[in-house]
Amino acid sequence: MRILGIESSCDETAAAIVENGTHLVSNVVRTQIDIHKQYGGVVPEVAARSHIEVINPVIDEALKQANMTWKDIDGIAVTYAPGLSGSLLVGTLTARTIALRQNIPLYPIHHVEAHVYANFITSQADTTQLQLPSTQPKFPMLALIVSGGHSQLVLFKNHGDYELLGQTQDDAVGEAFDKVAKIIGLPYPGGPSIAEAALKGNPNKYTLPKARLQGAYDFSFSGLKTAVLRAVQHEVGVDTSFPSFKLAALLSETQRNDFAASFQKTAVETLVDKAYKAFLDHSPASVVIAGGVAANSELRRQLSERIPLAIEYAPMQLCTDNAAMIASLGYFYAQKAAPADPLALEIQPSLSMTKTAWAK
Ligand code: KG4
Ligand code: ZN
Repeated sequence: MRILGIESSCDETAAAIVENGTHLVSNVVRTQIDIHKQYGGVVPEVAARSHIEVINPVIDEALKQANMTWKDIDGIAVTYAPGLSGSLLVGTLTARTIALRQNIPLYPIHHVEAHVYANFITSQADTTQLQLPSTQPKFPMLALIVSGGHSQLVLFKNHGDYELLGQTQDDAVGEAFDKVAKIIGLPYPGGPSIAEAALKGNPNKYTLPKARLQGAYDFSFSGLKTAVLRAVQHEVGVDTSFPSFKLAALLSETQRNDFAASFQKTAVETLVDKAYKAFLDHSPASVVIAGGVAANSELRRQLSERIPLAIEYAPMQLCTDNAAMIASLGYFYAQKAAPADPLALEIQPSLSMTKTAWAK
């Protein structure tokens, strides 16, 4: 069964074709990073407009790369939740229109859940050239989902049957990477630029706090971000009334790298501590990480060191937003759930993962 996935929930417009949930046939991602860089973050109206401009060419390219036409496609999977409303609308309305016009079943996909399915793609056509895992994760599967909008630990008993163990009580970890990058003067998106600067820095230079929370698997990253801000103010010798956007200019290259490394170490340790606790308590058969922050090498290193299972990681290109993960989940969804009505599918911009288990 061949599924064409469509993703447009934030600042990437993407289309991909995946066969039987595991074989990547084509993968096209058009990122808007260069557009949003000048504003230091995603501007929703600009994002939506940009999706409209490129969505049809991106879908055409995914079909062309696969050497296929609509006759070869058995289902369309589209991100309908959660994300920016205007952005979600572009993908969802496009998918609805194609589903109607071409008479192809339409599957509504939850973006955060789909991030996990990057780990299920284990083979590919010659054109995609990614470093894929060799086997699919086994159930029960513990997933650490870490992106710009989410930080959560989810225990999957099977496809579509999962339990949310814990989540962030404030900022997502990717958001913390992005905000800390701004404080110390590194470019957007903060994750990759902090990771790069951290390679040149001393992770033990600054001691930063880890939040203590009631929920054993819950996270909090807002305090860590503020702790970095206070430590920077202290280091450069200004008081808290000094405008925080001017702080970065007072940091030396070495201080900037040391802050990046110290922040990354603490944020990653926090994630790994909680994942390790969930691992001990629930004895999953596999552990996966998903979402943009899963591209972080330090997270991969620390997790592999702590968890006594051989963890295979999805390639970086499938950790950040893409449509291959949407198409993969679309296949597993289609095995157990009915397609959506293409005349009626509505976006759900703030749907959390707790309410979307679709198969029991
Ligand atoms: O999953 P994603 O592409 O979009 C959302 O669904 O949010 O995640 C984007 C987030 C951003 O916050 C970005 O800074 C972070 O993932 N990110 C990273 C890395 N690459 C991207 N964070 C840490 N290290 C990285 N290498
Ligand atoms: Zn995402």
